Amino acid sequence: MSAVVVTGTQWGDEGKGKIVDYLAQQADTVVRYQGGSNAGHTVSVKGEEYKLRLLPSGILYKGTHCIVGNGVVVDPKIMLEEMDAMTARGIDVAGIRLSNRAHVVLPYHCLMDGIGDESRGKNKIGTTKRGIGPCYMDRDNRIGIRVCDLMDKDEFAKRLKENLVIKNNELEKLYNHEPLDYKEMLAEYEGYAERLRPYVCDTIALLNDEINAGKKILFEGAQATMLDIDYGTYPYVTASHPISGGVGVGAGVAPKKIDKVVGVVKAYCTRVGEGPFPTEQLNAVGDKLREAGHEYGTVTGRPRRTGWLDACVVRYAGLLSGIDYMAITRLDILDGFDEIRMCTGYKYKGELLHEIPASLKVLAEVEPVYETFPGWKQDISGIRDYAELPENTKKYLKRMTEVTGIALGIVSVGPNRDQTIIIARDIF
Ligand code: GDP
Ligand code: IMO
Ligand code: MG
Repeated sequence: MSAVVVTGTQWGDEGKGKIVDYLAQQADTVVRYQGGSNAGHTVSVKGEEYKLRLLPSGILYKGTHCIVGNGVVVDPKIMLEEMDAMTARGIDVAGIRLSNRAHVVLPYHCLMDGIGDESRGKNKIGTTKRGIGPCYMDRDNRIGIRVCDLMDKDEFAKRLKENLVIKNNELEKLYNHEPLDYKEMLAEYEGYAERLRPYVCDTIALLNDEINAGKKILFEGAQATMLDIDYGTYPYVTASHPISGGVGVGAGVAPKKIDKVVGVVKAYCTRVGEGPFPTEQLNAVGDKLREAGHEYGTVTGRPRRTGWLDACVVRYAGLLSGIDYMAITRLDILDGFDEIRMCTGYKYKGELLHEIPASLKVLAEVEPVYETFPGWKQDISGIRDYAELPENTKKYLKRMTEVTGIALGIVSVGPNRDQTIIIARDIF
């Protein structure tokens, strides 16, 4: 039995796609358990770049099962576009399995995500406008439409009609928006249903059978700890549970079946969208990080906010997800820095805090306590052996393990699959 979760420890875009693709070499199955097409996971192999939104980052391996679990909110149009794009590049998509219990993102979800967020004015979250929040809202309000409903022509027609009455009412009365056309939407989604039908199944049974048969399963988190609906910087969060606990409900796998958790840690910090970010650098350092790292969003193209590594946040992620190993990514981006800083504590009104504050007001006012490290000023992107990393790099990594209390598992020094230093040999 071997089930490994890969989860983001910061505010997303840590390089989960790269780490999942690397570990997927050994996996039989890769599973997405939450989120939707708000995710943008990049996988680079031999200079070829693949941007994945709904498809698990195991898709490049022929024969690997790629499960989109029940906890994912699925935009069928985007999923099919991704499948077509993969097929056009010679990638076999036959291993995809879509949960019959996953909720379907419909056009009104995307529309309402956009108008709803803008209507918050200065309090807007800066969502990706992919309909994620509104789709989960419908699920929790028990009016959602699931993949099994989409597969049933009559049921889908009935539910869509009922929902459109509610949604068009809201659109017209709340947002002064013209109503959406039922017949047009029905026809469009009936088309998607037929194309997706061969991939739909009960992924819970499939996955549990595979686990019981001793297969190697990789769970791919989207978003990250600080965007978790309960544990992140609420309300500036996404609408699902990226932490490892999300696997239980999002894939239908009991917590006791999880063997290991890998937390992906970008060697510095970024955030897209609004909300507190204690180590943000609104200065030349931040600009340098953005330019050196080409920090612009995969999904929306927005410039990412940048700052120093916040080890307090990573320690918190370790606690919440039970992280066994850190996978440090984008360490090479720091190659050109004379000095590098790491936040190892927060001060609030002169007192050292021991927890991440729940109150956003407090979090916005904390003063990061920094430790400064000399840069290594050397290109590390060609290094494949931990022992060969410069001493200053190792000092920075060692301090990370001390402050977070988490062991090093993987160090990534470039986007490509082979630009990876493996330290822990027992992840699977
Ligand atoms: P994800 O959402 O966590 O999968 O991360 P994204 O794919 O949105 O953003 C991470 C970016 O960093 C992608 O462009 C990756 O190709 C790239 N990347 C991943 N690991 C490394 C690394 O170690 N070094 C460099 N330079 N780029 C990396
Ligand atoms: P990956 O998987 C970075 C952010 C959005 C916004 C907030 C809520 O690529 O790491 P949503 O559309 O989810 O309701 O937006 O969450 N966000 C992400 N930021 N990486 C992501 O995914 C994100 N998915 C959502 O920018 O602030
Ligand atoms: Mg991303």
